[in-house]
Amino acid sequence: MRWIRPRFHGDLGGMTEVDTSQGTTAAIILAAGQGTRMKSAVPKVMHLLCGRPIVHYSVRAALDAGCSEVVVVVGHGRDLVTAYLAKTFGDRVRTAIQAEQRGTGDAARAGLGAVSAGARDAVIFYGDVPLLAAEDVAHVLARLFAEPKCDVALATCVVDRPEGYGRILRDARGHVTEIREHRDLRSDDERAIREINPGIFAASTDVLRRSLTALHPNNAQGELYLTDVVSIVHAEGGRVVAVPSRAEVLAGINDRDQLADAEAAMYARIASDHRRAGVTIRSGARIDDGVEVGRDATIESGVVLRGATKIGAGAVVDVGCVLTNVDVGEGAILKPYSVMQDSRVGARAQIGPFSHLRPESDVGEDAHVGNFVETKKTRLGKGAKANHLAYLGDGVIGEAANIGAGTIFCNYDGFQKHTTTIEAGAFIGSDSQIVAPVVIGEGAYVATGTTVTKDVPAGALAISRVRQENKDGYATRLKSRLKAAKEAAKKKE
Ligand code: UD1
Ligand code: CA
Repeated sequence: MRWIRPRFHGDLGGMTEVDTSQGTTAAIILAAGQGTRMKSAVPKVMHLLCGRPIVHYSVRAALDAGCSEVVVVVGHGRDLVTAYLAKTFGDRVRTAIQAEQRGTGDAARAGLGAVSAGARDAVIFYGDVPLLAAEDVAHVLARLFAEPKCDVALATCVVDRPEGYGRILRDARGHVTEIREHRDLRSDDERAIREINPGIFAASTDVLRRSLTALHPNNAQGELYLTDVVSIVHAEGGRVVAVPSRAEVLAGINDRDQLADAEAAMYARIASDHRRAGVTIRSGARIDDGVEVGRDATIESGVVLRGATKIGAGAVVDVGCVLTNVDVGEGAILKPYSVMQDSRVGARAQIGPFSHLRPESDVGEDAHVGNFVETKKTRLGKGAKANHLAYLGDGVIGEAANIGAGTIFCNYDGFQKHTTTIEAGAFIGSDSQIVAPVVIGEGAYVATGTTVTKDVPAGALAISRVRQENKDGYATRLKSRLKAAKEAAKKKE
């Protein structure tokens, strides 16, 4: 039984790539397990790692390895998993339901049942191994295609502590004969085997179909083991090829400690990729998967970059900034401890320290937003400034306008939000309240301490405060009166 597929191009030693021009390699990802040890209401593969659910990485590895179709086997929490996959990968990924978790072999059967009839080969791996990369999958597939006689290609790793893993058994000639699960090992010699099964299997769909049908739950756990495919194929006279693989493909996640370890490794990998692309990243920064950072940008320690965040070339994100879905322009400077979400910062703008940009803030080129300024759904034009202590909600602020310290946009009347419009070059004196809806015209001037309740024409001065009165000598008289009263009280005692 042999299906040779001369479709592989690429270098077996380094990065490998599967030629999908004939488009017939399916990936089956097993992700139906509950993940009991996570002690969670959320299915294991939906726990986040560097900003994405664990299962995301398995799916991407399959797609990037060139698989023409991807089937994810779901069970526990399948509504959540299915919804995520549909939203993120659209019709590139399908799901198959394994209603009852009767073992990895049963899950593989469910997956194979959903693979299209045209798929000639399939690669099966687990959905809880986020550090596994496309090249690991491609390597195994490449060997399946390139070896002269290969019915099953499977990844293997040699580790110091093989406890808990399925061991690779070989015959006297070194041929792989079986994978035996830890609990089913029969002797100390078997327990001493350090070559283990990390869980990447590739075979033709014909071989898989036949061998998966032949599975029996004759093992310690009473489950159908995917790993028994190996002994079945071997017994039929087929050839199983072991493909030495990186230890990373092993980092399966069963509990939250392992999740933390895998996440640390993934953050390190992401940071290192950015550094190699010309970004300075200090230790302790956390950059999620998918964040883009331009050349010569500097990301200081304690910075957290999440979601669809993009940092422009040469920008500086200083210590402790937390950005979620923020587009930062070239050369912008984000000073320490600024928090921003769903916002845009223009080229060369300066933010912080301690600024809070809430959703839909749009800070123009060269604009400044300083300490303790909160913005929400507000656009600042080019070169506009709000340097200290302000709340700017639902605002449209023109070019080069200057918003003084303590300015509040009173945008909410308890029922509705209203817009404050400040035209180009206007100057808002400190401690002003702008009661929206209101328009302050171009170049207008709002005097310090003003409560603006109606529109200010361009070029006008708005002032609304009680006129100051000075009472000569009053303070001195008051002081001596108080002093005398105090002394009289003392005498009485
Ligand atoms: C499995 C392998 C073992 C290997 C180890 C590597 C088998 C029988 N054993 O053991 O040889 O060394 O992984 O980490 O395959 N799943 C389902 N449906 C099920 C059972 C499991 O979808 O009915 C999924 C799980 O969600 C998980 C994956 O399969 O993503 C692996 O299952 P798990 O129970 O963790 O297998 P291990 O005991 O770790
Ligand atoms: Ca596991």
